[in-house]
Amino acid sequence: MKHLIDIKDLSVEEIKDLIEVANDIIHSREKYSHKCDGKKLATLFFEPSTRTRLSFEAAMLELGGNVIGFSSANSSSTSKGESVSDTIRTVGCYADIIAMRHPKEGAALVASEKSIVPIINAGDGGHNHPTQTLTDLLTIQCEKSRLSDLTIGLCGDLKFGRTVHSLITAMSRYKNIKFILISPTELKIPEYIKEEVLKKNKIEFKETKDIEEYMNDLDILYMTRVQKERFFNEEDYVRLKDYYILNEEKLKKAKKNLCIMHPLPRVNEISKEVDEDPRAAYFRQVEYGKYIRMALILKMLEVH
Ligand code: CP
Repeated sequence: MKHLIDIKDLSVEEIKDLIEVANDIIHSREKYSHKCDGKKLATLFFEPSTRTRLSFEAAMLELGGNVIGFSSANSSSTSKGESVSDTIRTVGCYADIIAMRHPKEGAALVASEKSIVPIINAGDGGHNHPTQTLTDLLTIQCEKSRLSDLTIGLCGDLKFGRTVHSLITAMSRYKNIKFILISPTELKIPEYIKEEVLKKNKIEFKETKDIEEYMNDLDILYMTRVQKERFFNEEDYVRLKDYYILNEEKLKKAKKNLCIMHPLPRVNEISKEVDEDPRAAYFRQVEYGKYIRMALILKMLEVH
């Protein structure tokens, strides 16, 4: 049995296969509508979510399966003091596969050690969010027709943004990838990502505070929200939350075929006017998320 805790749990070849299946699902939905008949997915969300939970649920329903679960720790026996391990052992008696989000880094890994069914990490604190990364990879493949030879700007909260950490790790395995890391000093990318991923793999990267400095070099601009829930004091959050607001003025120097991505939810970091720009891919990205999760469920349940 295989779990998905970190994007590195999947090889480049496995990711290629998932993207191919997701593309096939996009073009032949009907073919997949009974693939998971009789199967159950449990979504255990100890932390809020809109896209990840609902896209997992929509994915399983579109495959013909069923869904059980909870959307907050308060509505489960966690509120009575039950451990994650006991919850996972219990839910494994009811479901064939579990997608789990938890505010603590490493919680999904701990859960996978006790689980009798496959576990998918749907986000563990500021650590990893592998299915968002799969969503991002499918988006890049569909929007840019390649996963290599790209200059990717990552902008905003690069410190706490788990989607950024997972995306850098994943993209570092493809050829000729350059990163422009755009953040205020307080929210710079963690040293371990620089040392263990970027430098170790000899990936070219530049750091800047200025969103416009390298705008005309970018093939992808990946905006992120300042993660309020990870701050220790409100004052710092208030000072940094509107540091970047992407608008049409700032996009003037950008390439005509720039792809603007955002894992969402957005707060203020992308102005609403950008939504009408054909380069804004973030709502298409949401939809790709459902298809790649359908492909992932099929793979993890070994449905052919
Ligand atoms: N992108 C993402 O993880 O969104 P949710 O927090 O709404 O699931």
